[in-house]
Amino acid sequence: MSKEAGKKAAADAAISYIKPGEILGVGTGSTVNMFIDAIVPLRDRIPGAVSSSEASTERLQGHGFKVLDLNEVESIGVYIDGADESDAGLNLIKGGGAALTREKIIAAVAETFVCIADESKIVDVLGNFPLPVEVIPMARNYVARELRALGGDPVWREDCVTDNGNHILDVKGLQITDPKGLETAINGIVGVVTNGLFAERGADVLILGRGDGSVKNLGRDR
Ligand code: 5RP
Repeated sequence: MSKEAGKKAAADAAISYIKPGEILGVGTGSTVNMFIDAIVPLRDRIPGAVSSSEASTERLQGHGFKVLDLNEVESIGVYIDGADESDAGLNLIKGGGAALTREKIIAAVAETFVCIADESKIVDVLGNFPLPVEVIPMARNYVARELRALGGDPVWREDCVTDNGNHILDVKGLQITDPKGLETAINGIVGVVTNGLFAERGADVLILGRGDGSVKNLGRDR
């Protein structure tokens, strides 16, 4: 229950980062769902949104927001999304909802990436949450062997096909002390689409919501 209150507090606090008149980037997950529901009163001031998943697109459209293809858009001012873990440097693990590739693309385009999460998501060292890796289906077993060689224990998320038609390997057993290095190494394996480490392009701001409804903002200059 208090986690839900923390998510809601973070989602509400993210509203102040929206720049009226600009295209908004919208991520995926239960925290983002709260954010989408919270911005309905601002609909007339948001000309359009770019969404990281079919689920968020459906929710946005259900509330009457215009959802744009990224290829129609020159720039995105702010991208709001959740995370599965963050360290103090705002390096993230994302992809628990299997939307990591589209999320990483929108984060790359956005001027500012605001991450929203309940305070349980902040950790000293990333890796307790299994790291999602999106793979081309025919490469799944090859990529799994390569991930084992990097020290991880990959598990195929068998009930999941991503919005891009790919598979997910969740890599357990990692203590990620070099997030940028590991992000690059995994993305270098042939057959990997991308992995859920957001370190090369981490968050600019992390809003952590607490169970009592208060928030704590962490931020960094890019
Ligand atoms: C989806 C994600 C989500 O942002 C992440 O899983 C957090 O979700 P939630 O807000 O439900 O805890 O990366 O791919």
